[in-house]
Amino acid sequence: MKIGKLCGPKMEVLKRGAALGGIVLGAGVLSAGCSGAAEETRDSIRIGVSLYRGDDTFINNIRQELEKCAKTWEQETGLKVILDIEEAKGSQYTQNNQVERFIALGCDALCINPVDRTAASAVIDKAMAENVPVVFFNRQPVEEDMNRWDQLYYVAASAKESAVLQGQIVADSYREDPSVLDADGDGVISYVLLEGESSHQDSLIRTEWSIQTLKDAGLPIERITGGIANWERSQASALMEQWLAQYPDTIELVICNNDDMALGAIDAMERADVLGIQVVGIDGTTPGIAAVESGRMMGTVSSDKEAYAQAIFTIAADKALGRPVEDDIDLENGKYYNCPQQIVKIE
Ligand code: GAL
Repeated sequence: MKIGKLCGPKMEVLKRGAALGGIVLGAGVLSAGCSGAAEETRDSIRIGVSLYRGDDTFINNIRQELEKCAKTWEQETGLKVILDIEEAKGSQYTQNNQVERFIALGCDALCINPVDRTAASAVIDKAMAENVPVVFFNRQPVEEDMNRWDQLYYVAASAKESAVLQGQIVADSYREDPSVLDADGDGVISYVLLEGESSHQDSLIRTEWSIQTLKDAGLPIERITGGIANWERSQASALMEQWLAQYPDTIELVICNNDDMALGAIDAMERADVLGIQVVGIDGTTPGIAAVESGRMMGTVSSDKEAYAQAIFTIAADKALGRPVEDDIDLENGKYYNCPQQIVKIE
């Protein structure tokens, strides 16, 4: 079986080595500090990272890449990185306390995956008071909060792009062979939809643009039902089990806002011994890609986790050293970075 990788419109590769090539960093480095205050000699930086949850597959993939970035950076610069990674276990209160602790420990920059993206102001207040730059990621603070300070950044994969690419996987497959998606041959693709957290920008935008892309491509789609499974495999599995019983021999396609929910839907199909329903995801997590490779999933949209983590780490490290963000991190409006994404599907 062949796996095809199609580039998304924003395919790009970050070259860390090249970026650091011009900077000589040895036993110590002169830093102006974030405030531009007194210069100091440094041989290490400290970065505090708080994850909204520690059991989220995609976030864990990013965490692993961040740890790799820190190691590579240490080798390249000769400086030490203390990467303090905490999990907020879904509590904004816990995350706020972690931020306070990071600041008390003297962190030079923070990387925050907010629990409640509408409540980033408490984190921003604490960071601004102590002049500690913040790189938010994956859960987007509201624009009003992001505009409060020029030392706030946001790294993510564009939700619209993910959704358009997900729609393309389905549309291309239909064009190649309509019977793959219209299994009963009634001229209609009957689909169900599994959505992420209702408050997450990715859920709303991915749902809207995935369906819009199918409509724009002229596919004869009909929605049977949908539900919120909060990005979780077990919740998606329970919903899918219910739908398989409620709509027997009807569902032809499961559109999922992420890979974990896609895997949950597949779990339910396997338990019920149902074959022939196509499933698409988003993320390109390790188990998601494995499901595409084994033919259990039609395709996924993989964000470049290396570039994603590299952007988070590079911005944080540059800011920790009191420098402007390197040019090869392509920032929109000076603060937003969108990582490249690509389709992964069975050819
Ligand atoms: C989404 C991702 C989900 C989940 C969520 C957490 O971007 O697709 O799998 O990780 O972020 O905020």
